[in-house]
Amino acid sequence: MNATDMIRFELDGREIDAVPGESILQAARRAGTDIPHLCYTDGLRADGNCRACVVEIDGERVLAPSCCRAPKPGMKVKAESERARASQRMVLELLRADVPADAEKADSELAHWCEELGVKESRFAPRENPTPDRSHPGIAVNLAACIQCTRCLRACREEQVNDVIGLARRGADTAIVFDFNDPMGTSSCVGCGECVQACPTGALLPAALVDAPGAPVAMPALVRGAFAEEEAEVP
Ligand code: FES
Repeated sequence: MNATDMIRFELDGREIDAVPGESILQAARRAGTDIPHLCYTDGLRADGNCRACVVEIDGERVLAPSCCRAPKPGMKVKAESERARASQRMVLELLRADVPADAEKADSELAHWCEELGVKESRFAPRENPTPDRSHPGIAVNLAACIQCTRCLRACREEQVNDVIGLARRGADTAIVFDFNDPMGTSSCVGCGECVQACPTGALLPAALVDAPGAPVAMPALVRGAFAEEEAEVP
């Protein structure tokens, strides 16, 4: 590729070059600057549904999701301005409200970005949490930690062409489901693990990791509790 094909734009006062077809977020990451992001991950189509990656673009009134916006020559983008940061923090705080502390994977991407932007706790009320689903032998499901970023859905549908995972219902009731809202263990899941790799919070984890004694994730406290009750009922 010729240098003349590159798209030069400004990010927080620094000039960077984007390859045609790259988003602002992709170009920024390639240039060594990360912008908060959760529903975007390398290798999956950008979906633009979490809004953690919003940036200010000179001349535009509304903040733009950097994972879905292509840079233009001369564009001036601010990812660290007061306005962009306030909005990124608000998104993280809202998402964190939905994830109980004992359901969040300690080293999750959500935890990472909350730490980076100083979001310690949420002022918002949590939603009603679904019961953990331990019906699958290889994958532990805890949708209490789900932020509906749909990375699992895209990984299942677009990477593996399995199409087991979907989004059901609308608005605040939106939820990840397996097939027709089946327990994961009785769904058509083949256990490939792409969804586990894609999940940024720990809503989907390897069952072995969750069940390991002293497992290094916070989620097992909740899951193990539910699982222990099931085991106690086995004669
Ligand atoms: Fe851009 Fe989620 S990472 S909207």
